Amino acid sequence: MTKKKALRIGLIGSGLMGRTHSNGYKRLGDFFPELAYRPVLQAVCSRTAEKVRTFAEQWGYESVETDWKAIIAREDIDAVDICTPNDTHAEIAIAAAGAGKMILCEKPLARTPEEAQSMVEAIEKAGVNNTVWYNYRRVPAVTLAKQIVDSGKLGKIFHYRANFLQDWTINPDLPQGGEALWRLDVDAAGSGVTGDLLAHCIDTAMWINGGIKDVSAVTETFIKERVHQQDGEVRKVGIDDACIFHCHFDNGSLGLFESTRYARGHKALYTFEINGEHASVRWNLHDMNYLDYFDHADDATVRGWRSILVTDSDQPYMKRWWIPGTSIGYEHSFVHQVADFFKSLETGEPCSPTFRDALETQKVCQAVLDSAASKRWEDTHVEWQGK
Ligand SMILES: NC(=O)c1ccc[n+]([C@@H]2O[C@H](COP(=O)([O-])OP(=O)(O)OC[C@H]3O[C@@H](n4cnc5c(N)ncnc54)[C@H](O)[C@@H]3O)[C@@H](O)[C@H]2O)c1
Repeated sequence: MTKKKALRIGLIGSGLMGRTHSNGYKRLGDFFPELAYRPVLQAVCSRTAEKVRTFAEQWGYESVETDWKAIIAREDIDAVDICTPNDTHAEIAIAAAGAGKMILCEKPLARTPEEAQSMVEAIEKAGVNNTVWYNYRRVPAVTLAKQIVDSGKLGKIFHYRANFLQDWTINPDLPQGGEALWRLDVDAAGSGVTGDLLAHCIDTAMWINGGIKDVSAVTETFIKERVHQQDGEVRKVGIDDACIFHCHFDNGSLGLFESTRYARGHKALYTFEINGEHASVRWNLHDMNYLDYFDHADDATVRGWRSILVTDSDQPYMKRWWIPGTSIGYEHSFVHQVADFFKSLETGEPCSPTFRDALETQKVCQAVLDSAASKRWEDTHVEWQGK
């Protein structure tokens, strides 16, 4: 057996995404044994020494840092994985690119297209491998939806509909800012559901259905003031609690998107449905192993929506796992993204979505926020390359 090359990871941020990515690195060799590179959990960084030490011990990192700049400065790190709140992504990524590190960055790429643009320039100047963790692309049923659309089975696409619904911020006593609640602080997050949740929907939508040309949006902030964790002061809430927008895609289809954290009963209900001239597909994160498919060409007596359990070995990624009929979960989408990134190091092909792809998603998010503010249609200026 040929010896694998080590890729030494420096993980920054040890919260929810720090865990999902670490799990991805740890599972990689067991399920993608043919890859030429193997991840080495070289260092993890988080601001609290005690917490980061506990994390490193639990997940098997060899060393710890409490300042992300130390990760960038270390010569024994090949790839920097950014799992910190959105306001830190640009500074860390630009510094990492300057040091010649590969970068895997959590979504949204940044808070604004301007920040995202400067990140794209930095990584392209440095010529470093990069990817952004829009992981839902790598849920097998979602990848299958993309393959079905690409095969032409749906024919001309008329409608793309997506929702991302949660219910965890309804309580007005929830503070904003700080650990875990930085998503409610506009300075840290950049926006509310638009950048946090709709960014996922937009990434999947453009990947499957092409560029979004223009948007018309409405947003709402239901709780206008919250205590800030930093100083205990009551401050204006700057994030969008809910957002609805419609749009034109470059291919002539119409899109309708909705997201909120005020939909009682829904925890992470990401759904999409695509209606074409011949057929339709729909998917639902709460039942993520299924893809629903309707084909008008079916015999009329049996025509109807069919529910495809996406677990067969000829379906995307599934030959890596168990046996047909046995499901996989949320965490596997991250394992798949790690695998695709590692594969891209061998092939030289970019691992999409790249920073440049994610910049286009950022432009749509910004156009959505601008449209909600201006109460007008806004052009996105997206240049979608179909990656
Ligand atoms: N791909 C997805 O589905 C998905 C899901 C959740 C979050 N995210 C994204 O991942 C990123 C992190 O989100 P999360 O849910 O893991 O957040 P989290 O609050 O659970 O964890 C954030 C971590 O970053 C650390 N941190 C914060 N500032 C730091 C700094 N300056 N230096 C070093 N460490 C710092 C915190 O201590 C914590 O360990 C965000 O950009 C978020 O949008 C993506």
